Amino acid sequence: MKLRTVSRCSECDAESPRWLGRCTECDAWGTVAEVSTPTSQQARATATPTASPVPITEVASHGTARRITGIGELDRVLGGGIVPGSVTLLAGEPGIGKSTLLLQALANLAADGARCLLVGAEESPEQVRLRAERLGALVPELLLVSEASVPRIAAHVAASAPDILAVDSIQAVVDPELGGAGGSVSQVRACAAQLVGMAKERAMATLLVGHVTKEGTLAGPRALEHVVDTVLSFEGDRHHSLRLVRALKHRFGPTHEVGVFEMAESGLVDVADPSALFLADRRADAPGSVVVPVLDGARPLLVEVQALVAAAPTPLPRRSATGIDSARLALLLAVLEHHVQTRGGLRLSHSDVYANVAGGVRVAEPGADLGVVLAIASALLNQPVAAGAVVVGEVGLGGEVRQVAQAARRLQEAARLGFTRVIGPSSLPRTRGLTVIPADTVYDALEAGLSSAGLSTRAERPVLAVS
Ligand code: TYD
Ligand code: MG
Repeated sequence: MKLRTVSRCSECDAESPRWLGRCTECDAWGTVAEVSTPTSQQARATATPTASPVPITEVASHGTARRITGIGELDRVLGGGIVPGSVTLLAGEPGIGKSTLLLQALANLAADGARCLLVGAEESPEQVRLRAERLGALVPELLLVSEASVPRIAAHVAASAPDILAVDSIQAVVDPELGGAGGSVSQVRACAAQLVGMAKERAMATLLVGHVTKEGTLAGPRALEHVVDTVLSFEGDRHHSLRLVRALKHRFGPTHEVGVFEMAESGLVDVADPSALFLADRRADAPGSVVVPVLDGARPLLVEVQALVAAAPTPLPRRSATGIDSARLALLLAVLEHHVQTRGGLRLSHSDVYANVAGGVRVAEPGADLGVVLAIASALLNQPVAAGAVVVGEVGLGGEVRQVAQAARRLQEAARLGFTRVIGPSSLPRTRGLTVIPADTVYDALEAGLSSAGLSTRAERPVLAVS
């Protein structure tokens, strides 16, 4: 067999035509080694078909065989449960709750009659048992083994023939044949490829835990996204109990579906009504507070946007955004200052501005623009926004308010939670129980939303900048 010799980095799998002391791709030292691979012609010549084509109608459908995890929010994200033979990656920062959710799901599945094997590559069975006790997830049908080598995991799978295999975590398993450190990209990829192969061959649902660093730099899970069927990403911050689990990729159901959990003493608890939770501590009559119906994936959620405007102690005012993009905040401030100023004036150039989404939620869509603008104006003018109102709309650079995606669903959510008015573009759909207060420009919105004092009375009551 004709072999080709190349140099390959054991960290990032990058190839180079010659040996190097330092990898030019990932900058790791001493990781490049010479390896021999068959030439591409060679690979082609030895390829034999492993399966014959069949008519599409004769392909078996797994559509009906989903296994429900019994965790409502997880089943929602999965589109109704786990599909046999599917491979799901649970990705997230260390400590966010991946092992917790995995154990809760497996305990439910095992109690429901599925054979489940949990391979702990990071923790001992004793540690896992302790966690299970805490979670009330001690189920005799759940099998545990502490193992980090892929060939031995394969042997355990062959011996116990589970319906569901879980590996915690993919970074901690190694293939000893391959060499290189566990957790390196080439190891993670090769191990995952073997586990995926096993899952498909045995129609065994497989759950893999993958750690992602804050910057998302740890290439492991990212490099895995294309080999697995489903990627569930954990979001949330350590200081809040809220956890969002999002389907970034899903071959068996809707993507961008989001599950909402609270990390409690007894593990992750479904939050079936997140809007009610986000608004629970809101003071409705507080200036600077606005309720916005946002869309998270396909799910409408009501969140509270808060703003605080204070005199800046230095010539360089601070702009701080939590839960919204800081560039977006800067843009909205510029629009607010410019377009309202041209009609008589809001000055923010000498004020510190803080904008925040309560509860640790992150809003990444422009539908919250008008809410942010109104929260800032409300804080600056020290007037609460009209009672019982939600605010929705994207703000353009011309100060115009634009339509948002899926407005009807957002408004239904607002009506469900007892709101009676909506400030937004006049094209908003009519919704039972909600009166539309049309605002086609930022200026209209301020007049409509802060009408108790009214910008039109500005002449008598100068409600200008805190400067
Ligand atoms: P864990 O699932 O171990 O995180 P990961 O596997 O993603 O690294 O969760 C760790 C955190 O969750 C830890 O800080 C403690 C907290 N926790 C609870 O608050 N309640 C619980 O019931 C459990 C098991 C963990
Ligand atoms: Mg863990």
